[in-house]
Amino acid sequence: MRIWTPSWNLRNALSGLCVHAIFLLSSICVAWSDRTPEQLAAIMNCSKHERHARNYDYMEGGDVRIRQLFSRTQWFLTIDDNGQINGTQDPTNCYSVLEIRTVSEGGVLAIKGVKSQYYISMNRTGQLQGKRNYNDNCNFKEVFLENYFNAYSSAKWTRNSREMFIALSQKGRPLRGRKTRREHVASHFIPMKCREEERRAD
Ligand SMILES: *[C@@H]1O[C@H](CO)[C@@H](O)[C@H](O)[C@H]1NC(C)=O
Ligand SMILES: *[C@@H]1O[C@H](CO)[C@@H](O)[C@H](O)[C@H]1NC(C)=O
Ligand SMILES: *[C@@H]1O[C@H](CO)[C@@H](O)[C@H](O)[C@H]1NC(C)=O
Repeated sequence: MRIWTPSWNLRNALSGLCVHAIFLLSSICVAWSDRTPEQLAAIMNCSKHERHARNYDYMEGGDVRIRQLFSRTQWFLTIDDNGQINGTQDPTNCYSVLEIRTVSEGGVLAIKGVKSQYYISMNRTGQLQGKRNYNDNCNFKEVFLENYFNAYSSAKWTRNSREMFIALSQKGRPLRGRKTRREHVASHFIPMKCREEERRAD
């Protein structure tokens, strides 16, 4: 809280400069989505590895997208085999390949690590954790922001009627939901496609 407030106010004060910085950043991110063939091969290999283990059970159905979530703070969101949420700067890290499934209308999604098979969940206190079994703590609302960025807020929990978001700090660490705001860069992500054919599809 104490850390965020001053820097955000500073950002507002410098909003003219900021617009420029944001514009540059989004160009960088779009460029990032043009992966090298080697990166794409490595990422596709991640999903191949998982295919036999896949078990949708009652999550069967709904639109499924395979994506990496690249944060505006320049990290790929990961969910590891211990259910830890973190950030990586390695674009071929298999724990960063995510299955994003539509759960219900109104942009409610569940996000699962393809390799770890853990869902991202947020509890009442706003802490992020990977969960083996899907429940409604794993539901997030996708909010479309300007400049290609999206934000993901808990569909279940709010704090003092404020939304709580999935967020990665400048150091790539997950933030407590109650420290997050829709307008903070830490809550902004670009969903990046992981497969060549998907890029052609649209
Ligand atoms: C693909 O995955 C296998 C097993 O996980 C690994 O041994 C191999 O090096 C990977 N290949 C590439 C191109 O990343
Ligand atoms: C999270 O990522 C950071 C930066 O890559 C790393 O230093 C740290 O050890 C990671 N933490 C866990 C729990 O994996
Ligand atoms: C919320 O999640 C954190 C991290 O997993 C855990 O330590 C904490 O006990 C949980 N709180 C509640 C109320 O479930």
